[in-house]
Amino acid sequence: MSATVSTEHQGGVAVVTIDNPPVNALGHSVRVGLVAAMDAADADRAVRAVVIRAEGRTFPAGADITEFGRPSAAPSLPAVCARIEACTKPVVAAIHGTTLGGGLEIALAAHYRVARDTATMGFPEVALGLLPGAGGTQRAPRLIGARHALALMLGGKPISAAQALDMGLIDGVVEDHLTTAAIALAAMLADEGNGPRPTRARSEGLRDPAAFAAAVAEAKAAHQGDRLPAPARIVESVEAAQLLPFDQGMEFERAAFGDLVASPESAGLRHVFFAERAAAKVPEAKVPPREITHVGVMGAGLMGTGIVVALLAAGLRVTLVDRDRPTLVTGLERIAAIQERAVAAGRQSTEARDADWARLGMGVDAGALSGVDLAIEAVTEDMDIKRAALRAMAAVLRPGAVLASNTSYLDLDSLAADTGRPGDVIGLHFFAPAHVMKLLEVVVGRASAPDAVATGLALARRLGKTAVRAGVCDGFIANRMLTAYRTAADFLLEDGATPAQIDGAMRDFGFPLGPYQVLDLAGLDISWARRKRLAATRDPAARYVTIGDRLCEAGRLGQKSGRGYYRYDGSRHALEDPDAMAIVAQARDDAGIIARTISRDEIIAHCLTAMANEGARILDDGVALRAGDIDVAMIAGFGFPRWQGGPMFWAEARGAMVLKRDIGRFADQAPLFWQVAPLINDLIRTGRHFRDVTG
Ligand code: 3HC
Repeated sequence: MSATVSTEHQGGVAVVTIDNPPVNALGHSVRVGLVAAMDAADADRAVRAVVIRAEGRTFPAGADITEFGRPSAAPSLPAVCARIEACTKPVVAAIHGTTLGGGLEIALAAHYRVARDTATMGFPEVALGLLPGAGGTQRAPRLIGARHALALMLGGKPISAAQALDMGLIDGVVEDHLTTAAIALAAMLADEGNGPRPTRARSEGLRDPAAFAAAVAEAKAAHQGDRLPAPARIVESVEAAQLLPFDQGMEFERAAFGDLVASPESAGLRHVFFAERAAAKVPEAKVPPREITHVGVMGAGLMGTGIVVALLAAGLRVTLVDRDRPTLVTGLERIAAIQERAVAAGRQSTEARDADWARLGMGVDAGALSGVDLAIEAVTEDMDIKRAALRAMAAVLRPGAVLASNTSYLDLDSLAADTGRPGDVIGLHFFAPAHVMKLLEVVVGRASAPDAVATGLALARRLGKTAVRAGVCDGFIANRMLTAYRTAADFLLEDGATPAQIDGAMRDFGFPLGPYQVLDLAGLDISWARRKRLAATRDPAARYVTIGDRLCEAGRLGQKSGRGYYRYDGSRHALEDPDAMAIVAQARDDAGIIARTISRDEIIAHCLTAMANEGARILDDGVALRAGDIDVAMIAGFGFPRWQGGPMFWAEARGAMVLKRDIGRFADQAPLFWQVAPLINDLIRTGRHFRDVTG
């Protein structure tokens, strides 16, 4: 008897129910229960057919991911699927919810499949660096052929029940009363003497060998040289479905799954899966959010207009305010341009675009925001300007409305205090372009009311953003990490590496762009302005690399001026530039530095260690609640490679002792920067890990 699987009998049909909330993951107890239920059904002469169904919101959403990377207790999921398929009585799977991965493999091991019209199903394993490892790569192609099977497994996106029916993955769709329909089908099969119909013996999908081989060849070519191993292993396993007898194909799949589940890439991706879910669990999320239907945005610049586009796309009513009509018009033109591009690319219909415009109001003073439920200021990053914007908003917003600042670095507590209603104030730190970038830091001030914070989190969810909760400090989580990363890169640049070497090393690590490519893209003047602002507070003893300032002084502001760390001859393609290198060489000379050769591994180690050390400080300060939140912020905000798991996952794998040793080794280069964060010493002393630290 299993706590998660039970059987009832209806007529001659054994109805086996999986009940393992929240998503019926196929953990050990479910696997044991399913095998026992099939054994019992086979042994019971009164049972003529079997239905497998699930309670709650979904038919199993997959194997239990928490079991991966640990020794797995028998029966394995492939063995469970084999047991279901070997049942001597017809087995019907009743599919609802999000039937994913191992859940779909259970359904494919059944002899017949019927689904609710609202069900979706798919193989998302590739997103975890895996392949379907319980027969999915062998059974699915036998039913639907290589093209559909590969699309499901390589794309990882679920399909609707109607699509599944169309391609022959399932046998029927019902609008309601799924269990009743499945029982009726099972009884009918038994009545008509239709016995088991094992998928392993099916061959509809193999009927056209040439088409099968062509789909495999196409996918092989498309994934040749992929950075991650899973896609190529998926293609090989699907190919094996055609080339090998079923049992050998299963062994082939099993070996590939074993390799992938042990790969560092899968470990990183699995870490991020759970870190993203953990990031949503913050104390304020327990409080009901305030209701939001109408949002105001103050500031029609690049950031403000990106935010407007994101809000409109989520179906919200929006009012945009700026100080004068020409600025507003420029902002509206920018919104129109973004939407036209979306329409041209087929990402938005003209109807949806028109509906967006019908929900967009505007005004040239704060008064236009009087009816909104939440207002976001996105004005220039200057304390006085932000202070004035928030005060103007506070004066007109109704009691209970939320005031949000999009500041990147300024002190939210000081801004909030000035509004006279600090409980209503939170930070909503978007990343440019705001309608594209996934990260939204929800900044919690000293006085922020929990339900105001909950409202920010709910808004992030509605916008489809990844919310990370951050405390108040200069740069919050993501920008603090970025500053540490860039500082370490600048030291290497001044010590002898070129921008191309540093960017190349970080791309090798997995970033889509290196730090200097990003600086050139964003414009060097943004960080220049910040450095100038902070100049008065800089410790004169700290090492300061002047290269960025010198480039700006020479009018090299990045791509927009055709020159920055690189040269751009009318294109976006970065070319190494002797003129930039002359500026770098001069900076080295002035600092008395003799350039040395710096390896790719040294570049990666310095940049990652700098992030890890800063992350330790961020955790220690309580600015981030957990190390995983820092990982999520860097992945969603700055393109840190997801499969590397994030900077703190990297640091965890390296170990606190090694981090400390490395920081000590780098300290000659910049003693004030390379100081071991107290938390690292603390972890060594107490034998704890970053993952054990909670804010
Ligand atoms: N294993 C273990 N836990 C899982 C899980 C799984 N497969 N899927 C979800 N969970 C957990 C989540 O961690 C979360 O736990 P928490 O409440 O403690 O944070 C809880 O279930 C609810 O999950 P979500 O917050 O994600 O709930 P949503 O309703 O937003 O989404 C979902 C539901 C679409 C099912 C989503 O959870 C999901 O995509 N899950 C992963 C599906 C997946 O990748 N399946 C393949 C697994 S690998 C596999 O099957 C290998 C096989 O081929 C051998």
